[in-house]
Amino acid sequence: MSVIIVQYPLILVNLKTYEEGMGQRAIEFARIAERVYEKTGISIAVAAQAVDLGAVADSCETPVFAQHVDPVTYGKYTGHMLPEAVAEAGCEGTLLNHSERQIPLNVIEASVARAKEADLVTVVCVDTPDKAGLVAAFEPDAIAIEPPELIGTGIPVSKARPEVVSDSVEAVKKVNPKVKVLCGAGITNGEDARAAMKLGAEGILVASGVVKAEDPYKALLDLARGMQG
Ligand code: G3P
Repeated sequence: MSVIIVQYPLILVNLKTYEEGMGQRAIEFARIAERVYEKTGISIAVAAQAVDLGAVADSCETPVFAQHVDPVTYGKYTGHMLPEAVAEAGCEGTLLNHSERQIPLNVIEASVARAKEADLVTVVCVDTPDKAGLVAAFEPDAIAIEPPELIGTGIPVSKARPEVVSDSVEAVKKVNPKVKVLCGAGITNGEDARAAMKLGAEGILVASGVVKAEDPYKALLDLARGMQG
């Protein structure tokens, strides 16, 4: 059962549907995250596929996130992701509106509200600073800015599009200073992570740089060290 509380700065590792990050391998990533957290004190959460959530949450103390939930309640909603079921599986939070799982603005608002009712931490992904400002009004715990064209490229948003990160921080904090800002896309090493923090981000959302790394422990440790300043 995951018991470590999400803190900031945060590294959120999205396992997506990568073959390297499913089933038993998802559990291994969560254990790696726990080891890096113990070594560095940097908060690390793992977003796993729906079918893996319970097993990953049971396997160690790493905070576990769903990659998506639906704004439904108990009842007749076959095939949906019920926030309460995600919480009961031992998860601490959920991603919403990832660039690979987009939902309309009104559904983002409803999903944030429903996820909060189930006591889930909400991290909403957006692709522009304007969208970041709009979503901040829904009061999620965090907004992750990710330019889709950089996702999975290894070209870090914090270096290739620094203004997108700093403008998003400004847009979000203007609406609600309590909402944290993460950034993601192409971040693979400690230097990229440090650059993100310098731009005002309070954490990073990463996938391929860790999930597909030859040595995921080393990759994650490098990211965490970069965030230690
Ligand atoms: O959710 C994280 C993500 O979309 C960034 O992916 O592979 O560029 O780290 P990646």
